[in-house]
This record gives sequence, structure tokens and C-alpha cells, in this order.
Amino acid sequence: MDILTSNVSKLISLSSTHVIGMTVASAAIGFLNYYLIFAVKKPRIHCKEGEFKNFIRQNIPIINEKYWPTIWCFEARFQSVLASLIRSFVVPPAVYKREIFTLNDGGQVALDWLEPTKHSNLMYDATILFLPGLTGDSKCEYVRATSLAVQKSGFRIVVFNYRGIGGIELKTPRTYSANNIEDLIEVVNHVKSKYPDTILGGIGVSMGGLLLGSFLSSTEQYTHKYFSAAMLISVPWNLMATTKNIEKPFLNRMLCSYLAKCLCNLVENSSNVLNSSRHKWDYNQVIQSKTIREFDSNYTIKLFDHESVEEYYKKASLHDKLDCIRVPCLCLNAADDPFCLESDLPLRSADNLDNLAILVTVKGGHIGFLEGHRQCSNKRRDTKT
Ligand SMILES: *[C@@H]1O[C@H](CO)[C@@H](O)[C@H](O)[C@H]1NC(C)=O
Ligand SMILES: *[C@@H]1O[C@H](CO)[C@@H](O)[C@H](O)[C@H]1NC(C)=O
Ligand SMILES: *[C@@H]1O[C@H](CO)[C@@H](O)[C@H](O)[C@H]1NC(C)=O
Repeated sequence: MDILTSNVSKLISLSSTHVIGMTVASAAIGFLNYYLIFAVKKPRIHCKEGEFKNFIRQNIPIINEKYWPTIWCFEARFQSVLASLIRSFVVPPAVYKREIFTLNDGGQVALDWLEPTKHSNLMYDATILFLPGLTGDSKCEYVRATSLAVQKSGFRIVVFNYRGIGGIELKTPRTYSANNIEDLIEVVNHVKSKYPDTILGGIGVSMGGLLLGSFLSSTEQYTHKYFSAAMLISVPWNLMATTKNIEKPFLNRMLCSYLAKCLCNLVENSSNVLNSSRHKWDYNQVIQSKTIREFDSNYTIKLFDHESVEEYYKKASLHDKLDCIRVPCLCLNAADDPFCLESDLPLRSADNLDNLAILVTVKGGHIGFLEGHRQCSNKRRDTKT
């Protein structure tokens, strides 16, 4: 990660607000660099020509190298599953310091912290807030791999395990959704009060990316400028399109019902608080949901008061809201992601933005990104959208 420090000093010569944003961008890029070395080669960059695009070109040298997808599992869905499996063996455990954080309504979430192993020569203290995918927690191999990489590059990382996730019992009848940022606001405020001078960056994977994107385009971010930069990985930009894709037979449909099963398990595991006739959802119906859409229409939209699943997916989608994101934002998608087809990527919008770049690799699947003989990179599936 020496590349980070040299680039940060280059950036110091820029204006100060810029430097702050770029410092965190370089944290994200430091991680991406590590990640790309093992995982992805020669992606296409979609971003308006300018300072940010140049910054990416200069800081991710492997962008100009070839990508060699693993020959025996280049099929996107196998890759997504295998990447997860392989990494779960190869990636070492991350020794987080757990903090139980109590939310205003009495709910509890686990925040898992890793302090940097060495201090980079940065003049700034930087913290990366990590938002996992649909049912992911800090122990998931893609979260671990990312956390360790960020820690190694000299930044603090904190993983936000959503309500009911990470072995924390649900205290109130409320879990989470892809776009409700109320809990995230509390968590961000908490991180900022703990480290008032830290520069905050965000990494969101899959559904975590949608949540982060919602935050970044919120008035909360607009008013307080909490995040200085962000990275979004395997984000399903357009949820209506994603839902159609993953309900297609047969492999996609299997992935979809697997994820639906994970969601049902989560609800079943908290039956003591979620199974009651006082609630707006029918517990017995919820736990029989066979697809993510069924789960969302039986449960999520009732919990968060959406009129319909279409309205919820429209609100939670990001493909038509890219211009609301004002901080430097680096996005990574694979063209063969079964959850987000290449045709559904908002590449045109990105081409007209000078602070947001979408890197597209030919292969990689959904949080897959296996490559060649070094499959020990970072990222998996088991999360959703
Ligand atoms: C179920 O919840 C308990 C805590 O109440 C937790 O220890 C366990 O890991 C959870 N199981 C699953 C599958 O989430
Ligand atoms: C849910 O509640 C109903 C009615 O109170 C009860 O019959 C059922 O056994 C409960 N299910 C679980 C899994 O707790
Ligand atoms: C709710 O789940 C049931 C399975 O329990 C499913 O048959 C039904 O279609 C779902 N409802 C909606 C509105 O999707």
C-alpha cells in the first residue's frame, strides 16, 4: 500500500476539502488495488474525464492488465458460489473488537472494529464504515477479506452488522431494509462522536451498497457531509430488473430461493419478537416465502410501510439517483453478474459524472471475482442484492 502514501502526498497539494475526500478515496482505492491484484483485471472505466478519473487511472495500475478468469469456474453463478466457498477457507479470521450499540428505540446492533495495524503517513485519521450484503455479517469471508485489507493499509474499519445479524438477538420487532437509513444515521453519528476528527469513508457490498447509496443521496449527508468518499461493490442498481433476473429458471431461481431461505431463517430465529398477531405481517406466511420478492411483499414492505413491493424497489434503486451522490465514489460491477445484468448498469449516467466511476469487469459474477490461480481474493455471494 505504499502507493497510498505517495499518492496522498500528491493530493496534499490540492485544495483542502478535496484532499479530505481524496484521502478517503485513496483508502478505498488502496483496498481496491489489493483486491484487483488478486481478482480483477483490465476493467472498463465509466466516468467523465477529469480529476477523479485520472486519479483512478494513476492509482490502480492493474487496470491496464489482462483479466484471467478461473478457467474451471468462469460461469458467473458457479463463480459467485465458489468464490465464497474458497475464500471461506483461505481468508484468515479477523479479530474484531465488538461493540454492542443500542439504538434509540431499544434495538441493538453489533459494530465490529479493527484498528489499523500500522499508521500510514497520512496526516489524517480515517475510518471506513463497511455495510455487508443482504444477510452478511462481519464474519462473512468477503467482509473479513476487505476488513483485513483496509486494516493493513493503515485505516480503521468498522463493520455494521444490521439488526438481527451477527449473533445479536433482536430486541424489538424490527429488522432492516435496503433503503431505510435510520439505523445507519445513528451508527454514523456514533462513529463520528467517537472519533470527531476522523475522515469517514464507506464501503457497501450488494444490498449494503444500496443502503450506502441511499445515505449518500440523503439530506442527512447533504447537510452534514459525513462521508468523504465511498465504494460500492456488486450493487444491484435497478431492483425491479434484478428481481426479474433472479427469478429466471433455473440457476438464478435457485440462488434466489436460497437467499429467501436465509431471510426466512432470520425471521424464524427471532420468532419470539416477530411472531405476534399485533404485527402488520403474518409470521406464518412470511417464513414460507420462496423468493426475495415474496419475502419483501409479505414482510419488508409491511415493516417499513411501503405501499407495494414495486414502490419499495423503485425507492431503493440507485440507477436513477447517481447524480445525488456528491462525494468521490468508486463502483465495481461484473458484466456477468446474474443479479445485475450489464444492460442494467447505469453506465451512461456514470459517463457524465466527474465524481463517480463504475469499473466493469467482464467476469466476476455477484461478489465473485475469482481469478487465475490466486482465488484467494475477496468477495462472495450468500448476500443478495
Ligand atoms: C439465532 O440467534 C441467536 C441469538 O439469539 C444466534 O446466536 C444465532 O447465531 C442465530 N442463528 C442464526 C442462524 O442466525
Ligand atoms: C407463532 O405464534 C402462533 C400463535 O401464537 C403459534 O401457534 C405458533 O406456534 C408460533 N410459531 C412459532 C414458530 O413460534
Ligand atoms: C407471501 O408468501 C406466500 C408464501 O407464504 C406466497 O404464496 C405469497 O404469494 C406471498 N405474498 C405476496 C404478496 O407475495
